[in-house]
Parts: sequence; structure tokens; C-alpha cells
Amino acid sequence: MTGMALKQKTVLITGAAGFVGSRVLECFFNKYPEYRYVVLDAMTYAGDLRSIPDYIQKSPNFRFVKGDVRDKKLVDELVAQANYVIHLAAETHVTRSIVDGKVFFDTNVLGTENVASAVRRSPNVERFIYISTSEVYGTAESEFMDERHPLNPQSPYAASKVGADRLIYAYHASYGIPSVTIRPFNLFGTCQHPEKVIPRFVTSRILGEPLTLHGTGASERDYTHVDDVARAIDLALHAPAEKVVGEVFNVGNGKGVSIKYIADLAVKMISSDSKKGSIVLTSDRPGQVSRHAADFGKIQTVLGWKPTVKFEDGFANLIDWYKANPAWWQNKLDMRQVPIEIGKGKKEMQ
Ligand SMILES: NC(=O)c1ccc[n+]([C@@H]2O[C@H](COP(=O)([O-])OP(=O)(O)OC[C@H]3O[C@@H](n4cnc5c(N)ncnc54)[C@H](O)[C@@H]3O)[C@@H](O)[C@H]2O)c1
Repeated sequence: MTGMALKQKTVLITGAAGFVGSRVLECFFNKYPEYRYVVLDAMTYAGDLRSIPDYIQKSPNFRFVKGDVRDKKLVDELVAQANYVIHLAAETHVTRSIVDGKVFFDTNVLGTENVASAVRRSPNVERFIYISTSEVYGTAESEFMDERHPLNPQSPYAASKVGADRLIYAYHASYGIPSVTIRPFNLFGTCQHPEKVIPRFVTSRILGEPLTLHGTGASERDYTHVDDVARAIDLALHAPAEKVVGEVFNVGNGKGVSIKYIADLAVKMISSDSKKGSIVLTSDRPGQVSRHAADFGKIQTVLGWKPTVKFEDGFANLIDWYKANPAWWQNKLDMRQVPIEIGKGKKEMQ
């Protein structure tokens, strides 16, 4: 035999029992079955191991570690063994952050500090992908937001993500950590918790319940399919360092979709014989972002990425999945709504 066998690469993915992480893991596992995958997840209410397919869980190349990104010793140990780190673990529900922001700052900022400083100390990490969010921008000041748009977070969740996003930037500037920051706009796909708007609409409709919309439902989001973000992460992880390290990339579609459009689509695509009204309007959420669309020109130019899944196609696919997998979401239904202060001591379930 000539030469030495190539050393097996290890990918550490935090938060991979969640919506995005589980799909990123699956896409990577299918494309790079030769890698070793270590998942670190605290299994909060948002984690569900059933989101990780059995064939991955049974593979000798897979290891699941139940643990917290706030546990510095554990994070140090796992990061030291990794060649690639993809950090997704976070508290993610905007409405919950409005009720109580503390855990958002603990996990999203201090947890990220643990991961970033472990990366700094490890001689083995070749690339560190941090998953930020477009929520860092707040309401758009221009029709399409590029990476230079001001950071005006409008919820405690968004503020915590700004903290982590800028922390990564500072650690790259100060210590040269090999980081790439991805700012996905809204994501959609299967295995998303029904507290989030798309699965909430879909599960409500399947159950014959009315769909509740914040405000008039006119606020717009830019939705990208989760498989497209997995591909963006793959490109950022394997690109030459000089093209991506220290950079921030938006991942989005460039098209706004109104919440009302999504609700109407759910009503149209999921038949229901319920006599209850199909759409109900509630007060607007405090700090609601009204317009939100991506300029994804940078990642397109640098990495050749562009979205491939059409919203309506991905939506039809996830409807089939939620219909076929009620056991996955039925035990999560009581978490769909959170009591929110809407002024003058009044509370409303949102
Ligand atoms: N879903 C979206 O539309 C979207 C858009 C942009 C960015 N993001 C970002 O992508 C990442 C993943 O989002 P998601 O939608 O999959 O979230 P999710 O809530 O579905 O999953 C989060 C996962 O992180 C785990 N977790 C939470 N706190 C932890 C801790 N202290 N230690 C270890 N694990 C912990 C949870 O158990 C869960 O498995 C987040 O960083 C989020 O900010 C998501």
C-alpha cells in the first residue's frame, strides 16, 4: 500500500436534535458517509431524537452526547476531537424570548463563547461554522438586506444572536479562529417544532382548528428550505479558507412571503371539514419584524450557492410529512402558544 490511509474527519454538530441540525446532519451523513459525526445536544423541549433517522443513529460513525453547550469542560473535550464544528444549538423561539430572555443569553451568547474559545484552543479544528440568523437585522431598511445592513435586533432572541454573531467576528479578529458565519433567513422543512408558524398552521389545519395570525398577517418573511441551508453549510465548510474564513454570508431566497399567504396556502392545500372559521387574527407580536428579504448575492458570487427548493413544493412536501407523522408532533401541541403581555397588564396566547 502506498501512502498512509487518510485520517477520518470528525464533524461536531451542536443542536442536531433540533429542526435545522437534524437535517444538516442527515444531508452531511448521506453525502460524506466516511466522516465521523458527534452530536452535542441538551435535549431541551426543542430536541427530539426521532428527528435523526435510525440508520444514522445505528451507524458506527455516529455518536450522540447529551450535554449542554454551557458545560465548558464537555465542550472543550468534544471540540478538541473535531476537525469541523457546526454550531447550531440555541434557544430559538422569538415569542418565548419575549416572555423570559435569560436562558437565551445564557445558551446563545455564553454557550457560543464556550464553543468559540474551545475552537481557539484546539489545534485540530479546520473550520468552524456558526449559524446566526437574519433576525439580527430587524426590519429591513432597504428592499433586500445584504450582510452590511445595520444590526437592529428587535427581540431578546435576536439580540442574543447578535451577541453571538459579533462574538464570533471578534474571536476571528483577535485570535484568528477559522470561523464562517451563516445568517439564514427563515427556514422551513420537516421536523420543525409546532411552536413555529408553518408547522403551527399545518398541524392546526390537520386537526381542524382555526389558524391564528399575528396582526393582519401582512408581515413578510423570506423562506428557504432547510436542505438549501445544509448545502450552504457544506459549501462554506469545504471552501478554501481564503474565500470564506472570517466572512458572513446571508442565506435566503430574496422573496418575501406573507404570513397570510402561508395561512391561505395551508387552508387550500389541507382539506378540512371543520365548521370553525379557518383564519383568526390576534394582536401583533411586540417587536414584530414587518419586512424581511435577503440579498444573497455574496454567497452566490463566492460559493455559487442559490436556493433550489420552491416554497410551494417544499410546503406540499412538509404537509405530507406532518400528515404521516402525527406521533412526532402530537406531544408538542401544548407548547404551540405562549402567554404574551400585550399592554395594560393584558395577556394573550400567541
Ligand atoms: N429555524 C429557522 O428558521 C432558523 C433561521 C435562522 C437561523 N436559525 C438558527 O439555526 C439554529 C438551529 O435552529 P432550529 O430551528 O433548528 O432550532 P430548534 O429549537 O429546533 O433546535 C435547537 C436545538 O438546540 C438544542 N439546545 C438548546 N439549548 C441547548 C444547550 N444549552 N446546549 C445544547 N443544546 C441545546 C435543543 O435541544 C434543540 O435540539 C439556531 O442557532 C437558530 O438560531 C434557525
